[in-house]
Amino acid sequence: MAESSKISKHKVITTNVLREMKMNKEKIAMLTAYDYSLAKILDTAGIDVILVGDSASNVMAGHPTTLPITLDQMIYHAQSVQRAVNRSLIVVDLPFGTYQGDSRSALQSAIRIMKETLCSAVKLEGGSEIIESIERIISAGIPVMGHLGLTPQSIHKFGTYSVRARKEEEARKLIEDAQLLEQAGCFGLVLEKIPAELAQRVAETLSIPVIGIGAGNGVDGQVLVLHDMLGLNNDFSPRFLRRYNNLYGEILDSVEAYIDDVKTLNFPNEKEQY
Ligand code: KIV
Repeated sequence: MAESSKISKHKVITTNVLREMKMNKEKIAMLTAYDYSLAKILDTAGIDVILVGDSASNVMAGHPTTLPITLDQMIYHAQSVQRAVNRSLIVVDLPFGTYQGDSRSALQSAIRIMKETLCSAVKLEGGSEIIESIERIISAGIPVMGHLGLTPQSIHKFGTYSVRARKEEEARKLIEDAQLLEQAGCFGLVLEKIPAELAQRVAETLSIPVIGIGAGNGVDGQVLVLHDMLGLNNDFSPRFLRRYNNLYGEILDSVEAYIDDVKTLNFPNEKEQY
C-alpha cells in the first residue's frame, strides 16, 4: 500500500480534531460506507470521516429515493461499519421520519443510534424547521452534523435534484440556517449541490468545518458516495462526481471470466482442489 504524506497525523479523528483541521487549513476527506469490508479499506486508507449515509437506501437497497430506509436498517449498516473502524470518525444519518415530527422522538432516534451502533455522531437534513430536534439531541451530549442545500429526504417537496440556492432568497435562507446550526452547537455541516461561491462564503463565515458535495473547492472538506466514486454504478453521472475507478466494468469482467471458467471446466484446476 502506498504511504501518503497527506493523511492526517491524528491517531483517532474526533469532532475536536475536525475543528483543529479547519483551523490549520487541513482539508477533511469524507466518504460513505455501509458495510464492514469497505469500511475497513476506508479506515486503513486514512479517511477522516465515514458517513453511514441514508444513500444506502439507493446504492445498497436499490430504492429510487432515500425515504424508505428505516432506523433499524441504518443501525444495521452502522454496526457493520463500526466493527471495521479504528481511526475514522463515524457519522450516521438519521433517516426520514425519525426526527422531523417532534424533538423528543428525534432524541430517541439519536439515542438508539449512539447506544446500538457505538458510532460517534448523527447527521440531520434541514435548518430552522428542525432546530428544536437538533438542540435537544445536542443537549443530550450527542454530536450533530447539519446538512443544507440539496436535502434528498425532501425530494418530493422540491421535485428535482437540481442545484439549490441559485436564487438570492434561497441563498439568504441557507446562510441564516448555517449560522443557526452553528449557534445550536453542530460540530460540522454538509453543503450539497449549491454554487461554489455561496459554499465558500458559508465556510468562511462559520468556525465549524463545512464539507461539500457538489459545492466547489472553497469549503473545508469533501464527501462523495463511495459507490459513485468507485464507479460501481454507471447510471449516475452528476457534474460534481469524479470516478476514481470503474468497478462496475471490472466486476462484470471478473464475473464473466468466472462463468466462462466454470462452464469450460477451467475452474477449479488440480491445485484448487483437495
Ligand atoms: O446519504 C448520503 O450519502 C449523504 C451524502 C450525499 C452527504 O448524505
